This record gives sequence, C-alpha cells and structure tokens, in this order.
Amino acid sequence: MKLQAKIFGLGLVLVAGMAVAKDGVTNPVVKERMDLMQVVRVNTGTLGDMAAGKAPFDAARAAEAQAALVAAAADIPAKFEPEETDPVSEARPEIWMMFDEFTAKAKSLEEAAAAVDTASLDGVKAGMGPVGASCKACHSDYRM
Ligand code: HEC
Repeated sequence: MKLQAKIFGLGLVLVAGMAVAKDGVTNPVVKERMDLMQVVRVNTGTLGDMAAGKAPFDAARAAEAQAALVAAAADIPAKFEPEETDPVSEARPEIWMMFDEFTAKAKSLEEAAAAVDTASLDGVKAGMGPVGASCKACHSDYRM
C-alpha cells in the first residue's frame, strides 16, 4: 500500500512536469515561468476538482497535489526574477517595479496552499477558497 501510494505520487509529479506553457512562446525564461504556472494550475485543479465533487476525494492524491503546489509557489520568485518578456507573455512590467510585493503574493499562495487540510474533503473544500483568492490577487495586479 505504501509503495503503491509512492508510485502514484511519482505519476502525479510526472503529470505535473508535463504541464506545458501556451503555444508560440520562444523565450526560454518566459517558457519556464509559464510551465511553472501550469504546474500550479494542474495541482490546484486536482484539489479543486475534489472540492467541487468532480473527482473522488483521495487524501493521498490531495497531499501530493498540495506538496507540488507549495513547491511550485515557492519557486515563483526565482522563475520570475529575470525581467524577460515574449510576445505571448501576459506578465505586466509592474512585476519588476514592485518585485517585493509580487514575491509577497507568491508567499501568500504558498501559505494558503500549505494551510489546506488534505486529510478530509471538508478540509480541502475550506482550504481552496484562500488558494483561489491568492491566484486572483496576483493575477489582477500582475497578469494582463
Ligand atoms: C505571485 C503572482 C502569481 C500567483 C500567486 C499566481 N500566478 Fe498565475 N501567473 C502569474 C503571472 C505574472 C502570469 C503570466 C506569466 C507570463 O505570461 O509571462 C501567470 C500565468 C498563469 C497561467 C498561464 C500560464 C501560461 O501557460 O501562459 C496560469 C494557468 C496561471 N497563472 C494559473 C495560476 C493559478 C491557478 C494560481 C493559483 C493557484 C496562480 N496562477 C497564482 C502570476 C501569479
């Protein structure tokens, strides 16, 4: 059982790793940060689907998705630190004018994700509100 959970976890990590940025991005630095956002999206989706009853609740899967989301959130500042752009990028220049504030918003997501109680469906339901709010808080200021 333990081993099975581990194998399943590995599968999820691979799925997360396959999340890809939008077509046509050519700047590799921008592609990397878009790929990171897709990892954020995929893992938020796993938890969100459980919360919405679109997927059965599975505590082990929820914990894996949470760990991947926390790790991805923690990686946001490093991936966005270089001020790079691309014709398809939706990043606003304000990111680099107010990088401390941007970083604080990444931290809010990291904390909201870490606070999700993945042991129960009610915990996931309660925890996803603040997670979603932290996506929105950053996107409304820093994403076109
Ligand atoms: C600290 C700021 C920040 C937080 C928090 C954040 N995002 Fe983003 N996100 C961005 C920025 C900036 C972009 C645009 C990047 C670009 O186009 O260069 C983006 C882009 C995206 C994209 C598009 C990626 C692509 O392929 O172009 C998705 C999907 C996404 N975010 C999902 C999420 C979700 C879901 C959450 C919350 C769980 C979240 N983001 C939290 C800043 C943030």
